[in-house]
Amino acid sequence: MVIEPRMRGFICLTSHPAGCEQNVINQIEYVKSKGQIDGPKKVLVIGASTGFGLASRITSAFGSNASTIGVFFEKAPQEKKTASPGWYNSAAFQDQAKKAGLYAKSINGDAFSEEVKNKTIDLIKADLGKIDLVIYSLASPVRTHPVTGVTHRSVLKPIGNTFTNKTVDFHTGIVSDITITPSNEEDIENTVAVMGGEDWEMWIDALLKADVLAENAMTVAYSYIGPGLTEAVYRKGTIGRAKDHLEATAFQISDKLKGIHGKAYVSVNKALVTQASSAIPVIPLYISLLYKTMKEKGIHEGCIEQIQRLFSERLYTSQNIPTDENGRIRIDDWEMREDVQQEVAALWLDATTETLPELGDLQGYKSDFLNLFGFGISGVDYAEDVNEVVEIEGLQ
Ligand code: NAI
Ligand code: NA
Repeated sequence: MVIEPRMRGFICLTSHPAGCEQNVINQIEYVKSKGQIDGPKKVLVIGASTGFGLASRITSAFGSNASTIGVFFEKAPQEKKTASPGWYNSAAFQDQAKKAGLYAKSINGDAFSEEVKNKTIDLIKADLGKIDLVIYSLASPVRTHPVTGVTHRSVLKPIGNTFTNKTVDFHTGIVSDITITPSNEEDIENTVAVMGGEDWEMWIDALLKADVLAENAMTVAYSYIGPGLTEAVYRKGTIGRAKDHLEATAFQISDKLKGIHGKAYVSVNKALVTQASSAIPVIPLYISLLYKTMKEKGIHEGCIEQIQRLFSERLYTSQNIPTDENGRIRIDDWEMREDVQQEVAALWLDATTETLPELGDLQGYKSDFLNLFGFGISGVDYAEDVNEVVEIEGLQ
């Protein structure tokens, strides 16, 4: 069928298999163009189908010839109904890996469950023996706790005070004030349960117990800090508490990995348009101003540029891995540069519905958002009939 974008609120209901495939091919080409990295050999990526996780899988496979197992939670296609983009991305990744002679298998299911953990471990034992890198890149609004059975829902709220600031509806370009009432204790607990470090630690516990982590294995989870502008709703809000928890968990995991001389890291990444970030109030306005500023300075990056740089300039060099005073890897260094932040803060004050098209990169935001779903990708003929029912090769 001919597939077009169908928007509802902050989501797109359709996705384009050929566009998603081209996205994956473009990322692979980018990684190859940067040359080989003496990196990981056998990699598990949890959250491997979109965003930073997909970029991690591509960088491992096509930057270091690594065997990869990807875990994700995506919607399969049905006759006349497209799959979620991560499904098509993973189908394309598997195709490309096969052509390149690289081992790749995927598991589609709830990573928070014991079932998916066990299935993953069985697959590692059967095919790879031991793995040397575990990337933890889940972004989810809900988690059903495997022990208590309670379903937790995360919220994006400030803590303590009502927060009022500007936001943009990136579809219409309308800039308005948004007021968010503060969270309660339960909101914080739920958000930490979903996006904190407990599940990451459960994964590592399970992998250690099954003895499928190689000597010197590393695990990396992704976090975000951002500027003062978004602090109330991000880093000092409910999601920030979850990130505090995730970052603290890295130290606990590192202790557990001492026996195999392994280590857990958190990498703080740059703000980018993904399905997860477009749902957070205030962030899209910040991102559109940030993109404008960073593009003008020639330092803009997407997920693949960020992760390629993380692997080649932080994780896999002959030097020790550089970290900040809190033990975190910083690949948000260009976003957080003083000149960048000063300019964004100045633009923020002047941003209105009328000025934003000029001051910000609203167009870049919109096209990145559409790109997530495989639309607006150059080289793809959107008038052409495509088969929406695509299989993922190597799906367990
Ligand atoms: P994303 O939405 O693109 O990717 C989420 C991944 O998690 C997908 O592969 C999805 O299938 C998978 N997933 C979700 N729920 C699952 C479940 N129950 N079971 C199995 N898989 C599941 O998100 P993005 O933006 O790549 O986020 C990944 C991490 O990076 C998150 O921790 C996020 O906070 C962090 N991060 C994001 C930034 C941004 O601006 N987007 C900036 C810095 C960090
Ligand atoms: Na991801």
